[in-house]
Amino acid sequence: MRLPPREVSSDFSRRLRAWFRRRSRDLPWRRTRDPYHVLVSELMLQQTQVSRVVDYYARFLERFPTLSHVARARVGRVEEAWEGLGYYARARNLHKLARRVTDRGRDTTATLPSSPAELRALPGIGAYTAGAVASFAYEKRAPLVDTNVSRVLLRMFAPSLSPKSGAGQRAAWKLAESVLPRTGGATWTHNQALMELGALVCTARVARCSECPVTMHCASSGVKGTKQQQPEPRISRAR
Ligand code: ADE
Repeated sequence: MRLPPREVSSDFSRRLRAWFRRRSRDLPWRRTRDPYHVLVSELMLQQTQVSRVVDYYARFLERFPTLSHVARARVGRVEEAWEGLGYYARARNLHKLARRVTDRGRDTTATLPSSPAELRALPGIGAYTAGAVASFAYEKRAPLVDTNVSRVLLRMFAPSLSPKSGAGQRAAWKLAESVLPRTGGATWTHNQALMELGALVCTARVARCSECPVTMHCASSGVKGTKQQQPEPRISRAR
């Protein structure tokens, strides 16, 4: 796989960010930089739809406004607040993480580390979540790859690789790193925009290339095998 040249990646990121500013959804976790709040949203979003997470996120943070609130609660109480989201290992890991970071709840000002490497050393935090907390809470210039992002980047720059293969995953991380903008502030927008493009435009089911802000850089746009959205029929038939 060849990485895109500098001019291409910077134009790609600039267009993507401009599109995000115009078209993105106003979601509660995009209004905060609190590392713990960002972490809770990202853990919830891992296996659950955005619309469902919106309600749970607000309710959970009302019950547990800080990491030390989580740490001081019994694990069963945290699992209870997670009820309905499923995958309870996420809640148990959050409890374990909170106890570790806050010295069992004693340090009420403790917060999460900001580097992806330190974040990854904590319970329940993998490569994606580490990149998400570093870039969304601390505005660090850190890449992130989840299923949406790897689909978008591989369709765009390495269409012969499957996101399901090891080679595809390695390529997706290399691409994610290479197309990052220069600053941390722009990285926040860039990473949110990549996820938003995967959720709204370049979806698993259909690529809405006519709505895509970066088709000019895309290796899959208009290519047979990428399922394009069919145009709406102009005249609706009487039923
Ligand atoms: N899925 C995971 N993280 C997300 C985010 N920050 N916004 C929307 N969907 C997401």
